[in-house]
Amino acid sequence: MLPRCAFSVCHVLMLVLCLSAAEDFDWTKNDHGSFYYGTFPAGFSWGAGSSAYQTEGAWDKDGKGLSIWDVFSHKKGKIQQNETGDSSCEGYYKVKDDVSLIKELKLNHYRFSISWPRLLPTGIKSDHINEKGIQHYDQLIDHLLENKITPIVTLYHWDLPQVLQEKYGGWQNISMVNHFNEFANLCFERFGNRVKYWITFNNPWSVAVEGYETGEHAPGLKLRGTGAYRAAHHIIKAHAKVWHTYDTQWRAKQKGLVGISLSGDWGEPVDISNQKDIEAAERYVQFYLGWFATPIFHGDYPQVMKDFIGKKSVQQGLGTSRLPTFSPQEKSYIKGTCDFLGVGHFTTRYITQKNNPSSRSSSSYFSDRDLAELVDPRWPDPGSEWLYSVPWGFRRLLNFVKTQYGNPMIYVTENGVSEKMLCTELCDDWRIQYYKDYINEMLKAIKDGVNVKGYTAWSLLDKFEWDEGYSERFGLYYVDFRNKNKPRYPKASVQFYKRIISSNGFPNQREVENWRRKAVETCSSSNQLLAAATRKSKEHAELPKVWPVHDEV
Ligand code: NOJ
Repeated sequence: MLPRCAFSVCHVLMLVLCLSAAEDFDWTKNDHGSFYYGTFPAGFSWGAGSSAYQTEGAWDKDGKGLSIWDVFSHKKGKIQQNETGDSSCEGYYKVKDDVSLIKELKLNHYRFSISWPRLLPTGIKSDHINEKGIQHYDQLIDHLLENKITPIVTLYHWDLPQVLQEKYGGWQNISMVNHFNEFANLCFERFGNRVKYWITFNNPWSVAVEGYETGEHAPGLKLRGTGAYRAAHHIIKAHAKVWHTYDTQWRAKQKGLVGISLSGDWGEPVDISNQKDIEAAERYVQFYLGWFATPIFHGDYPQVMKDFIGKKSVQQGLGTSRLPTFSPQEKSYIKGTCDFLGVGHFTTRYITQKNNPSSRSSSSYFSDRDLAELVDPRWPDPGSEWLYSVPWGFRRLLNFVKTQYGNPMIYVTENGVSEKMLCTELCDDWRIQYYKDYINEMLKAIKDGVNVKGYTAWSLLDKFEWDEGYSERFGLYYVDFRNKNKPRYPKASVQFYKRIISSNGFPNQREVENWRRKAVETCSSSNQLLAAATRKSKEHAELPKVWPVHDEV
């Protein structure tokens, strides 16, 4: 709470201090533990998110083509337990059910992605348009709007049509720019009368680094030192082209906005009095969020990326930098192609300077940065190995965006925490804590003057978590994947998030503590339902032992 200043003549000086503190809102900047009670600006948009491959299932139904994730997940050894998104949450068949959950939460917006190969089975518009795929998204959009929920639509959440990967090498090839533009144009044409918020790419960092550098994600290529930079280069150009297409052909009629969703961890110097650590932490963020944001807001890659990759490329005896360059025309074409910035944020790292050897064989995106990442073992990490809860990093990242890119309009497009698969506990107190603290840091950032217009909890449902399969659960709603019907159960965090939404923030300590207590109390009935269902499905699981005997008879 802001300290109260009791007015009296001799307290004038203190009052002035209080007022200026409220203005700058810097009173908690170095106090990580403090909680700020207050509300969000009127009209702030609350939401939750999902993506097509992670939730839809129906991977080969109704004329859908293959995506690189269908193919990748079917290869042995790529995904934990060799799981796939073949059926996932069966979201394709559960549009009405899922919109009911969104309604139950009283969300203002819902973020989902369109599967490119569901609309264009080969990825190429002139080959074939799958009208059944169009109908699916028509139904979802209409149903959301009937319920006064604003759709925020991502055009690329990682599921590239497999044909484009096989024919052209996917994002290694410049021809993706035109193919993606045709797909986006089709979406604007068919859905743009109803969809007013478009996100071109979700987390291109992951596409580039995990898809084309480390190979942990589809398409699984390990083109170390060059693959990620090349993929990112084409993605940035594709984003810009789609923005221009919307701007010149659709904006006047449809009056929507086109942005991109960038992910970024915050990087904090290990030693804030050490210049080398300060620079290394800055490099960490520039190589992450800045890699994409700087061209889009300023027209070119961050200077530090050009310097470091350029210098290492020379040391490796290469004639040119492994980081591609934009021509002057491209720079001005790319600069300013963002009506709002989507920010996906989950965690923070401590960063220290570390020189890496620059031999040609060891070249990689990671070694180009000359830094080491550290974590504080006291940070909570209930689920994913990489996801430590460090709320204060969120406020710093948002302030970084504000100062670096001219205070753009921001929608937080992803933020949340996971738990392990085996955790069938619906009373997810740790998620309540995570949301409470991260959302509070976002509120502080807004008080700092950061222009955040909306927040998207990640994710609505438990779902396919890429190479981790179903082993990590991010959902507000638990999904029972062992049951063919994929029933959804609310976790306690549903109740808590709902309260934040209905109060548009955090009214006071007593109330917020009350929400938490009530949320944890009410989830015990859902826990019982789930436990009963689990017992039942265990009984069913024993049935096959009996069947062969009947067969023999
Ligand atoms: C970012 C990705 O966009 C999303 O699909 C994923 O579920 C989250 N990270 C959590 O790993």
